[in-house]
Amino acid sequence: LQSGLLAQHIKKGKQMASGQLSRDEALECSHSRHACHVMLYSDTASQLFGRIPIRHVVLMQMRFDGLLGFPGGLVEPSEETLEEGLTRELLEELGVAVPVSIEDHVASSFAPSRPGSSSRLMLHFYVKKMEEEGILEVEKAAVSTAVDHGLEVMGMVRVPLYTTKSDGGLPFFLSHSFIGNARSQLVDSLLRLHLVSPQELRHALRSSQRKHS
Ligand code: GTP
Ligand code: MN
Ligand code: MN
Ligand code: MN
Ligand code: MN
Ligand code: MN
Repeated sequence: LQSGLLAQHIKKGKQMASGQLSRDEALECSHSRHACHVMLYSDTASQLFGRIPIRHVVLMQMRFDGLLGFPGGLVEPSEETLEEGLTRELLEELGVAVPVSIEDHVASSFAPSRPGSSSRLMLHFYVKKMEEEGILEVEKAAVSTAVDHGLEVMGMVRVPLYTTKSDGGLPFFLSHSFIGNARSQLVDSLLRLHLVSPQELRHALRSSQRKHS
């Protein structure tokens, strides 16, 4: 079962990968709306309870709809580049116009089509590594100057990357509900960037499935 779940996840990832487009291919899709989201993260030396290394700070947000997701939003490719649009959304949602570049682009793919919705939505995902100071600045601005605070965004959250003896941490975090494919975007990024070991991630994925209460 243990390896089955990770294999399942990786297979899903590969299927997704086959539906993944380059930034340029994705932009050629006309009659599509576009949205950009980014995973901001840093290294850190801080330790939980003075003994559990946090290792990295990874930022997500509690959205207005109660789902977890990454900061970002709808962009207007006719009026702005994808990255300009993403930075505009980050200013609204985080209170800091974090610059994001083409090099930070990870993948683009169509959102699963929703019944009743006529136009398709193209999702562009970015990952950007920052200094810990930059992340702390974002966290402060998100509650003080971000115009969307308490409205579109209920608050920023850090992703716990550790697993405690009682399976607290990443397993419980992954058992929450996520918007779109944000959960896969998170898990894939943690694996690809080596922010969590494959063994720990496998355990967390397995454990998270037992935690819905
Ligand atoms: P408005 O300003 O109200 O238009 O919201 P927004 O521009 O901030 O848009 P939002 O961030 O809600 O993103 C638009 C759509 O993208 C959402 O309705 C979701 O379908 C999808 N989406 C939002 N967050 C994520 C995410 O983290 N990952 C993925 N894959 N999709 C997301
Ligand atoms: Mn305490
Ligand atoms: Mn948004
Ligand atoms: Mn927004
Ligand atoms: Mn918006
Ligand atoms: Mn908005």
